[in-house]
Formats: sequence, structure tokens, C-alpha cells
Amino acid sequence: MRYAGSILELIGGTPLVRLTRVTRELGPAEAQPLILGKLEALNPGGSVKDRIALPMIEAAERDGLLRPGGTIIEPTSGNTGHGLAIAAALRGYRCIFVMADKQSAEKQALLRAYGAEVVLCPTNVPPESPESYYSVAARLARDIPGAFKPDQYWNMENPRAHERTTGPEIWEQTEGRITHLVASAGTGGTVSGVAHHLKRQKPEIVVVGADPEGSVLSGDTARPYLTEGIGEDFFPGTFDPAVVDRWVRVSDRDAFAMARRITREEGILAGESCGTAVVAALTVARELLASGAAAREAVFVVILPDGGRSYLSKLYNDEWMRANGLLASPGAIIRVADLLADRHRDGRLPDLVLARTTQRVGEAIDLFERYGISQVPVSQDPEGNAVGGIVGSITEKGLLDRAYRDPSIVERTVGEVMDRPLPTVEVGAALDEAFAKLAAGAPALVAVEGGTPVGVVSRLDLLEFLAHRRA
Ligand SMILES: Cc1ncc(COP(=O)(O)O)c(C=O)c1O
Repeated sequence: MRYAGSILELIGGTPLVRLTRVTRELGPAEAQPLILGKLEALNPGGSVKDRIALPMIEAAERDGLLRPGGTIIEPTSGNTGHGLAIAAALRGYRCIFVMADKQSAEKQALLRAYGAEVVLCPTNVPPESPESYYSVAARLARDIPGAFKPDQYWNMENPRAHERTTGPEIWEQTEGRITHLVASAGTGGTVSGVAHHLKRQKPEIVVVGADPEGSVLSGDTARPYLTEGIGEDFFPGTFDPAVVDRWVRVSDRDAFAMARRITREEGILAGESCGTAVVAALTVARELLASGAAAREAVFVVILPDGGRSYLSKLYNDEWMRANGLLASPGAIIRVADLLADRHRDGRLPDLVLARTTQRVGEAIDLFERYGISQVPVSQDPEGNAVGGIVGSITEKGLLDRAYRDPSIVERTVGEVMDRPLPTVEVGAALDEAFAKLAAGAPALVAVEGGTPVGVVSRLDLLEFLAHRRA
């Protein structure tokens, strides 16, 4: 029979998986570096932090800092809490976790599920404020008898755990062929411990630190950001800045977008810090390819610290993403040109149908019939089609109104009966702009490129385009 003695024995030994979809932009697979994700979400508590929980507890037991019936108190964004809560559940300790209120509701609920208590503190206060989650945790640890604060930010069991487990795993799994380690840093325990081990084996390994904009670790000025679990507004004792050869700073927007892509394209349910690390890996891989170095020989290992289940109400909630400016409406990134290109692929319409002021109305009506369209811009220029030549429009609805009252108008010229010109929209404009103009009442828009009309965009065109994109 093959089984583990307890869930704690199943921590670590996480697999590496090649990323093949989000890396497409790097060109043909055979010319790309190998980009491997280390799936820390497969630890029992769902994150890389499981690895440090038990070693910190065992060291405290050895040193007499934690005795039976004791209480573990820790300021944590959740993941370390889950690791500690699992270990504490098996060892019979009470747990209190103190966290910033920006942390997701799922992370808090999960901690409570393991039987832990959760104390929330405001996010946007400096660490030295008495209200900060660091200060509150310190006060609780002082006031509660038998309390032990593992203090993952200063406890050297944290980086040592990675030096002992994560680093050697990566070395063995890549058969020593790793050339680049890419990791984000919160306490810095992961990147420091893993890098120490790997650089001892092979000093030329490049360690890439992936940091959110607004974190001091990569030298930015501290300011709030939304990415959870990584980046800091101080330098933790567990972080050895000397191990990082270069930093890549990643915006919330890019990190969140990449996390969603990893999930949708690779099928790996990813947390935000995975997005940050993968953006950093692709940045460095792109540079390597551009430099003409032997990129194909490079082997990147990217630490993917946790999964997406903790972020269903934020990262994976479109409403929350939009409210926080992290998700553009599809129309903000699709251009009018995309719609025109899509329509031209159908081949059912010439690029632009124009009527001339001197044409008979009857002939213009033929245009509606021939092309199945309902409005046509009118040009006063018998040959050319500059925007300046467009002086009006005729629409199916406008003509019907008039012809019904006075059938003789079909014999008149277009110039005599035309309506106002249709509003214009640049082909480079976002589809949002076209939508806004159509929603405001325009029957159709003239799409313009460099001063020349190139097509008409009607409400039906927009509807058809949206329907095709969904299909
Ligand atoms: C989601 C997430 N990613 C990455 C990290 C960074 O790990 P480390 O503290 O070892 O630097 C953490 C740490 O809490 C985390 O919660």
C-alpha cells in the first residue's frame, strides 16, 4: 500500500509544467527558451507557503518557544496562514491570523474553515502604524500567554525551507539545466532560499525578481497596489537582495491579465503573483531572443506560488476587475478597423458605396437593393471620395418618408433630397467610440482613414460583428 502518514508529508515535490500557450508570442516553439512553471498550488494548502509552516513550528518547539496548548499568531496575507493552520490543526495549536483588509474574502473564509481566528486591519497605513497588521499581530503576541509568532518576515526557517526543498527539487527536475529562475517576493523566502541553493550549484544562473509596481523591493516608491501576497513596503529579514540579478516591475493590469490568460490558455488556475512572474519571464525571454543569444538553450523555471481559487471574487470576477480598472470592455481594445476587416472577409460589400449629388434618387435606391444596405453617404465630387466631398447622406428610412408623400422624388437628384452627412469615426478608434455614436442616434457612421472615407458602419454591422466574435 502506498499512502502518506499525514497531509504534512505531502508538502513539496511539486511538478514542473511547460507553458506553451502564453509563450506563443515568443515565436516558433523550437526556437524559444523552455519556460517551465513550478506548480506550488499543488501543495496541500494550495500554495508555496506550505513549505515554510511546519519547519517554523518545529523549530519553535525545539527552542521551547511553542508548547502544547500554545497559540500561533501571524500577520499573513493568507497563504502562510493556510500552511500554519494545517500544521497547527494536526499539532493541536490555536491559530490567530492578522491580515490587511484588501485580502480576498475567500482567503479569510479558508482560514476560518481550518479552525483559525482572523483579525482584519486597514490596508493603507504604514507598517509602523499601531493599526497595521504587523503592529496588531505584535501586540496580540505580547498579550496572549503562550503565544508564538513565527514571524515569517524574519524567521530564517522560511528561506532555509526553500533552500532545503524547493531549490533541490528544481535542480533535480531540470537535471541542472536551469539557466533562469523567475520568482516574485513577499517575504523573499522563496527567491532567496531557492537562489542560494541553485547558485551554489551553478553561479551563472540568472535570478529574475518579479515585483509589482509600488513595491520597494525593486526600488520603487511604496504605494498601494492590488496584486496580493507579493511586493513590500519594507525589506524583510528573510529576503537577501543580493540574490536577485535583475528585477522586472509589473503593473497590476498586466499581472491580472496574464493570470487570467494562464488559466484560460494553459488550463492552470493561477493567482495574481503567477501572472506577475510569467510577465517577468516573458520579458526576459523576449530580450534574450532579441539579443541573438542562444535562447533555445535557455531553461526558465518560474515559480507559480498559488492557484486561483482564493481569487474568485476578485481576479476572476469581471465586475470587480472592471470596477478596479483592470478589465477593459471588449470595445476598448477592438478597433473600428477590426470590424471593417471582418466584414470585408465576407466579400459581400465593396469597401465603400457612395451616391453622387447629381445621381437620380431612383439610381440610389438601386444601390440599397444591390448591396442590401440602408444608408449611403453622398459625395458632391463626381469621381473622388475625399471626406471633404461628402455633403450628405440618404437613408432608406428618410427616402421612404419622402417618397410616400411625393412619389415623384425618385426622378429628382440625390443632392435635392439628401439628409445631413453621417457622423465620421476614425478606423483607428476604439469600437467603444463607434458604439457611443450609434447609441446616440446616428443611423450609421462613415469610417475614415487619413481623410478618406473607407466604409460605413451601421448598427447591424456592429451587431453582426459582435455575434460572430461570440460564436
Ligand atoms: C500569492 C503569493 N505569491 C507569492 C508569495 C511570495 O513568497 P515569499 O514570501 O516566499 O517571497 C506569497 C507570500 O505570501 C504569496 O502569498
